[in-house]
Amino acid sequence: MATKQETQQPQVDASRDGASGGDTLSVTDNRTGKSYELEISDGTVRTMDLRQIKVDEDDFGLMGYDPAFTNTASCRSAITYIDGEAGILQHRGIPIEQLSEQSTYLELAYLLIFGELPTPAQLERWTFDVTHHTFAHEDIKKFNEGFRHDAHPMGMLLANVGALSTFYPDAKHIDDPEERYMAAIRLIAKVPTLAAWAYRHSMGLPYVYPDNELSYSENFLSMLFKMENTYKPDPRLAKALDVLFILHADHEQNCSTNAVRSVGSSGVDPYSAVAAGVAALYGPLHGGANEAVLRMLRRIETVDNIPAFLEGVKSREEKLMGFGHRVYKNYDPRARIIKKHVDEVLEATGDNPLLDIATELEKRALDDDYFTSRKLYPNVDYYSGLIYEAMGIPTDMFTVIFAIPRTSGWVAQWMEQNEDPELKIARPRQVYTGRRDVDYTPSEKREGPEKITGPPAKRPKRPRRGA
Ligand code: CMC
Repeated sequence: MATKQETQQPQVDASRDGASGGDTLSVTDNRTGKSYELEISDGTVRTMDLRQIKVDEDDFGLMGYDPAFTNTASCRSAITYIDGEAGILQHRGIPIEQLSEQSTYLELAYLLIFGELPTPAQLERWTFDVTHHTFAHEDIKKFNEGFRHDAHPMGMLLANVGALSTFYPDAKHIDDPEERYMAAIRLIAKVPTLAAWAYRHSMGLPYVYPDNELSYSENFLSMLFKMENTYKPDPRLAKALDVLFILHADHEQNCSTNAVRSVGSSGVDPYSAVAAGVAALYGPLHGGANEAVLRMLRRIETVDNIPAFLEGVKSREEKLMGFGHRVYKNYDPRARIIKKHVDEVLEATGDNPLLDIATELEKRALDDDYFTSRKLYPNVDYYSGLIYEAMGIPTDMFTVIFAIPRTSGWVAQWMEQNEDPELKIARPRQVYTGRRDVDYTPSEKREGPEKITGPPAKRPKRPRRGA
């Protein structure tokens, strides 16, 4: 069972100065009988302090082993606070509930990056700058033409975000504050355009250019759906989308943010670092879960099939997608907020039978000891897909839409990292488990089975849509 210590991030106590006041850990190495004092600072010990623990002079020294970073803080950050046990999420100290009710996505993006809510003048300038950098280079359209008509839009977004670094080569001057600001603006402004164009490509539709008269979320809806000049985004849908953007903007050191920081630590330009985040988000255990939830709900088909589905989950045939979280061991606060907006959106778009299945599935799972004993509750992805589907967005696009607001989180974390005096290139250690000092065997003396394991050299062709 997860303890409070496991699910709550260490906090800095400003009244204390480092490890003073006896904040130490005594460790005895039973191999040698020697004792060591390790400093405790901000609820952590530095794993480099373990290196002094050796059995003899030739010993490399003790390392920490934490393959999925489940108990390792990889950085100091002042952007997002999560208490997973209590279901609390705050950005720069402000609870997500207040932000989702009172703020807008662009204001939150400013807060994440600059640390304070903007003044009216700052917000006006920020909004102007983002709005006036939404156009993407025409050549991006040519890249898109190279993709198959059924290319996954997340793969297209990944390629196009990486490609931005070639259009803005000066972004490699990462120590220049002006270049950093421009990269932040361009990424936040252009990712919706690239995302919408990926969608239009997959539908075989002409691209819609950004409209500077519209708000951030209205503009995105317009680039997705506009067919005639009379198109006006529904304000209820634009508002719901803006709330979803707020809820997805940042989530401290998750898989994709860790990817951005890890790649960014090499000193590469921010477009390349953010492309790494897009790649990580693509995975079904991360941003791809919202897509997987919808597919799961469709497969369940009717409320009557829920018990059999849950039995399959409990016998580990599959996972209940949209449930569980590495950090939250309580209801994800973002899921609670999204749930409130599902009804509003359905009022604008009409009923969705999948909502009944989702509601009943949640109820039954939360009544079941298998899920409650493992502290498995709905996460942000459980209900977001239902809203996207109601808006008429195809399932393939869900993760792409997650990437739009997460871009501001990635940028904020990248900016923070570049100001960190402790920044070094990320380079984990390993526990080597292979052979050592093996002599090279000439080809004629090698033995082994005739057949190699793994996929056949020539794979059988799988039929593709429209191929
Ligand atoms: N359905 C069924 N069982 C689950 C689930 C699930 N969704 N999630 C975790 N478990 C079980 C798991 O089998 C394990 O059981 P046991 O202790 O008996 O072996 C226990 O719960 C602990 O799980 P874990 O795999 O150690 O947890 P983790 O922290 O490594 O994984 C997770 C977190 C989010 C990857 C996982 O809960 C999961 O795969 N959920 C489904 C995918 C999903 O919804 N992802 C979206 C996450 S939120 C948005 C985002 O960050 O992108």
